[in-house]
Amino acid sequence: MYEKILLESPLGPRMRIEGKEYDYFCGTSYYCLHGHERLIRAACEAARNYGLGPATGWGVPPLREVERLSSTFFGTPAAKYMVSGYFGNFFLVHALKEEYHVIFVDEVSHYSVFDAIRSVEKPIHPFAHLDPEDLRLKLKGHLGPGQVPLVITDGVFPVTGALAPLRDYVEVLAPYGGILCVDDSHGVGVLGANGRGSLEHWGVEGERCYLAGTLSKAFGGFGGIIPGDEELMERISQNVRVPVGASPPPVPAAAASAEGIRILSEHPELRERLWGNVAYLRGKLRGLGFAVEESPVPIISLRPVGDLDLSEVQKKLMQMGTMVKYVPPRGYSDAPEVGTIRIAVFSEHSREQFDRLVEALRTCL
Ligand SMILES: Cc1ncc(COP(=O)(O)O)c(C=O)c1O
Repeated sequence: MYEKILLESPLGPRMRIEGKEYDYFCGTSYYCLHGHERLIRAACEAARNYGLGPATGWGVPPLREVERLSSTFFGTPAAKYMVSGYFGNFFLVHALKEEYHVIFVDEVSHYSVFDAIRSVEKPIHPFAHLDPEDLRLKLKGHLGPGQVPLVITDGVFPVTGALAPLRDYVEVLAPYGGILCVDDSHGVGVLGANGRGSLEHWGVEGERCYLAGTLSKAFGGFGGIIPGDEELMERISQNVRVPVGASPPPVPAAAASAEGIRILSEHPELRERLWGNVAYLRGKLRGLGFAVEESPVPIISLRPVGDLDLSEVQKKLMQMGTMVKYVPPRGYSDAPEVGTIRIAVFSEHSREQFDRLVEALRTCL
């Protein structure tokens, strides 16, 4: 599904779209780092110093720097950088394939999760969305004696912003010595005291829990990242051919990603500001009558109240200078059966922008 709107300015809380300025509440650049002066400068300098890339090899400083900075950010001995976050789940399930026998997957996990698990030759059993009790039943029903399960799920679901109950999953998995893999594309940089994502948020960082993240969203850069120990890195190099068989991420994009990691490491107050903005807007939307739960996730999903047509609401908001995304029924991996509005909250949004959005919404009710 291609975006119909054409963005004509660097990413920010106000955007130029087809000649007009809007308050912008779309996408995934939760700190607006894609439009940040420091990232743009880093990308330009890297292009001047190293060109676009080494053409298939990995021997250029910005690529190494991304892995070094990521391992520090995530508090792991190492990290693997790759050309796209979409590949992260593929890397994990292949790297670990000698360690498990059967895969259990949240039924509305991201496309990248399903593409990854279908590429390993293991039985796959979906379990009900966000439901540890159903997972427990599925494990009981499908695991043979001595078999080890791998559970895989999005940490934060991209359309609804729902948080997977990872602590519950870990408890359910424990008696089987199971493995948890999380596609944390929307969690990394945002959740947890240090921004390490969903595993940190739920306090389940550890041996049997793995995450695949992206630098293309909160970090403002480009490419996927898997933090981990040397053993995981070794398993990746043994079982995954992508790093040797495909070109690395473009070097200017790597340099921008490295700068994004530096900014989020140096400025924890950005996370505080984002969480403050999220709490503020969630509260205001509840005040309007929408069922919006308390959560630190900067993705807010509005479901129809009564017979409200949210696709019409989105159009009206646009006429009033506010851009939010309408997601049609089942229009994306985790999109519900009803049309919804997805609001992305940024650390750079002002309270005035939230108030304008809420007032504009009020006129549509
Ligand atoms: C849940 C999820 N996983 C993976 C990806 C892919 O990440 P990337 O854009 O870095 O390839 C996305 C992108 O939108 C996503 O929402």
